Amino acid sequence: MAYQDVYAGWQSDPETFWMKAAQEIDWDQAPGRAYFDQGPAGEWFADARVNTCWNAVDRHVEAGRGDQLAIIHDSPITHSYRGLTYRELRDRVANLAGALRAKGISKGDRVIIYMPMIPEALEAMLACARLGAIHSVVFGGFAAHELAVRIDDAKPKAIIAASCGLEPGRVVHYKPLLDDAIDQAVHKPDFCVIFQREQEVAQLTPGRDVAWHSFQFGAKPADCVPVEGNHPAYILYTSGTTGQPKGVIRHTAGHLVALNWSMKNIYGIDAGDVFWAASDVGWVVGHSYICYGPLISGATTIVFEGKPVGTPDAGAFWRIIQNHRVKSFFTAPTAIRAVKREDPDGELIREYNLSSLQAVFLAGERADPDTIEWLETKLDLPVIDHWWQTETGWAIASNPFGIEPMPVKKGSPSVSMPGYDVQILDESGQQMPRGALGSIAIRLPLPPGTLPNLWNAEDRFRKSYLEKFPGYYETGDAGYIDDDGYLYIMARTDDVINVAGHRLSTGAMEEVLSSHPAVAECAVIGVADPLKGQMPLGFLCLKKGANVTEEQVVHDVVAQVRNKIGPVAAFKRACVVERLPKTRSGKILRATMVKIANGEQYKPPATIDDPEILNEIGDALKRLGYPVT
Ligand code: COA
Ligand code: AMP
Repeated sequence: MAYQDVYAGWQSDPETFWMKAAQEIDWDQAPGRAYFDQGPAGEWFADARVNTCWNAVDRHVEAGRGDQLAIIHDSPITHSYRGLTYRELRDRVANLAGALRAKGISKGDRVIIYMPMIPEALEAMLACARLGAIHSVVFGGFAAHELAVRIDDAKPKAIIAASCGLEPGRVVHYKPLLDDAIDQAVHKPDFCVIFQREQEVAQLTPGRDVAWHSFQFGAKPADCVPVEGNHPAYILYTSGTTGQPKGVIRHTAGHLVALNWSMKNIYGIDAGDVFWAASDVGWVVGHSYICYGPLISGATTIVFEGKPVGTPDAGAFWRIIQNHRVKSFFTAPTAIRAVKREDPDGELIREYNLSSLQAVFLAGERADPDTIEWLETKLDLPVIDHWWQTETGWAIASNPFGIEPMPVKKGSPSVSMPGYDVQILDESGQQMPRGALGSIAIRLPLPPGTLPNLWNAEDRFRKSYLEKFPGYYETGDAGYIDDDGYLYIMARTDDVINVAGHRLSTGAMEEVLSSHPAVAECAVIGVADPLKGQMPLGFLCLKKGANVTEEQVVHDVVAQVRNKIGPVAAFKRACVVERLPKTRSGKILRATMVKIANGEQYKPPATIDDPEILNEIGDALKRLGYPVT
């Protein structure tokens, strides 16, 4: 069937479309229907009973795939690699789940996971799923304060962490970060399970911490606990406009159905194939396409602990694709830009046999046409940009490669996936004509697998996503649709920025900057960067009489952002200015400041209070070396 037929089939009868997709899942109690008009934005398969871990692990063993590799851990950082079969994975996960159950973890309890890219991170996620416990994985690049905020919101009964993570040339000491976070948090977990890595054995806190191996010793393996279709499988925090992250909830049944559908129809992956998403379990890509998606579909997934360059060189991606016979590969455009910078002629690509590879998928930030073109030419394969968000959990728009590869238009993530009715709206919520730029919104209901709500924050859910355009979900992205129905994503409409594929809140960084005793007011913007897509830049207005040099205050705030948010924010630059440009109602003109820093033409908005301030900003940026026109 062609994409147009599949999409039209969904449009004419979504209920039948999703009930058919649901037949691929092993249910304890099959759903009576797909859509339920309940909750703030609708729910899917709410009357079913099902277990995620059964569908991701056990059922493949039952079906005779027990000896197939489920996970390959390839770690150029530790110079090691190992594989886990589906049978081994089932036994390990059942054991860990049994140990958690013996310590009182049961359905609905929250468990925070703070681990690097090791198979044990996936085992911890699956062990929670086995019990119906709700995991919340926190990215290892986040600092103690960010972890503390998540502990206080999710209120976990337990935390599963590793002793350390490994960055090139640096051990990231997770345990002190965890201890600090627990100290800062008001809520305290009952216990912590610490996976001791050989690179660093952490000091355990008596009475609270227990080592991963002794914790599981003698545990009675746990069976899978069936849960309701609308039981939360996990909470994943993502950046919003403020320092308080949004806890995106994922319901169990829709997650299973949608990811299973996407593996075949988007990525062209069947049971037995090897799929690799070079991301991190702390991000949504890691949840959907390192852990759950490939395993639900019976494929082999790769857990990669390394970087696109420097571990040891820009051939790391190609070595792994060759050695593990990867069929579909998913990464962020920034990683390809890093590879291209080191190996512009693709000499390392030619050293490897990439005959297993059928396509490369890019997401997480805008894929610039130059990067796509370079990779397409060097690999002679389709390079597919696709667009989605933590909130949706799977692609809103993609080239439907598994259904039929459609012509690639560089700069566009192609067409809407079934389940998504994407519209471009003007400020008043009216649909805009083809080609016109506006806010991208999705007509409700969203498909299975997308967020039904925010954890502990239904009001915020409504305000952030549902209120501006009644009857639609507001994506926070702006763009347009061309005459062929291809979508173009141009910018965010809020203060979220994307640094090397990492979603970050400028609002959260501003909170850190304002806490400096000498800072009266501040703004953080995302400036275009040839490698990372965007880089944060801070503007500081000092308090009258503040006795501090520009050099000192900039040094302080850079250190504070690293310390409070994490190195991954890549906040390295800031400058002191007299005043910030604002509208007459006091709103800081961040979008105009971005244009000035990027050297783009700009028109002072009609509502500006004092246009002269824009020249002052331009002068400050020139001093920092920005290409101000
Ligand atoms: N734990 C702890 N620290 C981490 C971390 C983690 N999991 N991941 C990154 N960091 C740190 C890095 O060590 C670095 O610290 P530094 O300031 O001391 O050097 C900082 O955070 C920034 O890291 P990163 O964004 O990785 O930038 P980089 O300059 O080291 O590398 C790239 C540049 C392009 C190679 C890298 O950004 C990359 O691989 N990007 C792809 C990202 C991706 O896949 N995102 C997922 C979206 S789908
Ligand atoms: P995250 O929730 O971290 O996945 O970030 C989601 C945001 O990243 C989206 O709302 C977009 O702003 C941006 N994004 C993700 N994928 C793409 C893409 N293919 N093209 C353009 N922007 C993207």
